[in-house]
Amino acid sequence: MDADLLLLDQRLLPHEEKFIHCENAEDTARAVTDMVVRGAPAIGVTAAYGMVLAARHAWRQSGADWKTAMQGDVRTLAAARPTAVNLGWAIARMDDLLRTLPGDADPEPALLAEARAIHEEDVAANHVLGDLGASLIEGRTSVITHCNAGALATGGYGTALGVIRSAWKAGKLNHVYADETRPWLQGSRLTAWEMVRDGIPVSLLADGAAAARLAAGGVTWVVVGSDRIAANGDVANKIGTYSLALVARAHGVKVMVAAPTSTIDMNCPSGADIPIETRDPGELLACGGSPVASAGAQAWNPVFDVTPAELVDAIVTERGIISAPDARKLAMHMA
Ligand code: MRU
Repeated sequence: MDADLLLLDQRLLPHEEKFIHCENAEDTARAVTDMVVRGAPAIGVTAAYGMVLAARHAWRQSGADWKTAMQGDVRTLAAARPTAVNLGWAIARMDDLLRTLPGDADPEPALLAEARAIHEEDVAANHVLGDLGASLIEGRTSVITHCNAGALATGGYGTALGVIRSAWKAGKLNHVYADETRPWLQGSRLTAWEMVRDGIPVSLLADGAAAARLAAGGVTWVVVGSDRIAANGDVANKIGTYSLALVARAHGVKVMVAAPTSTIDMNCPSGADIPIETRDPGELLACGGSPVASAGAQAWNPVFDVTPAELVDAIVTERGIISAPDARKLAMHMA
């Protein structure tokens, strides 16, 4: 029997560890849209496996016409979420390969090998950038992170949480503060889950408490991931990252953005060009399925924001560290 794609349903964490089966590209796209799997690199890896499922079905149904037959599925996968560039990056990489494949042979083995390579390369990149990011942390300190940029959000190990894991191993960390990250609570549900499992001391903060925590001292770095980094170094990440970066600058706390190069979009000139996803207002008006707002209130629910490059002290990728990022440094980094 052919293997399905199994995805840990992150919506149920930390209470339940249940896997969802995706039999085809449509199931896979729905899992991305509905937040079963989330986090920019994880979405990219998932889309790569979704392309394998799309090709499998197209080959079975249409034989030698499989490349044309899977185009609808490719569009469905690409449209699953708009902000994380890793999704389109992974689909483009799979597409480049499939164009070179013969029409008259089963494409699945070659595409599956490529999807696995994307997955494994992401894990390897996270280990490299995690160690590099940790090398920026001096002495022994505490850090604050926002959302979840951990193993759950990537192929494994994590970007921001990769830096934190490496710093912890190096004996450089006292404590991790994690913003709870309304409305999906990626901080409370996912980052805390990962830190507790690794034995790394973690305290949750209501998002609005971050400024007071930085004012209190003892935290020297904000460490976050990203969904898309524009060519000028502007960074899209989970809503609230921008306010955290502003507060950090006001308190002399440095901001580190940890992300693989698959998150850098050189075709996107600045943050103003990054498509920002706005989700259902109902996600804000309720919490855990229970209404929390006055009936009749409306809500505005953009789920990402853009932190201007001038508020970022370092972008760390698997290729190295970009200090005080700007367009020239990004271009050199990606050359
Ligand atoms: O809406 P989400 O949970 O997909 O948002 C995730 C984030 O904003 C992460 O910080 C980002 O994708 C980096 S993950 C390594």
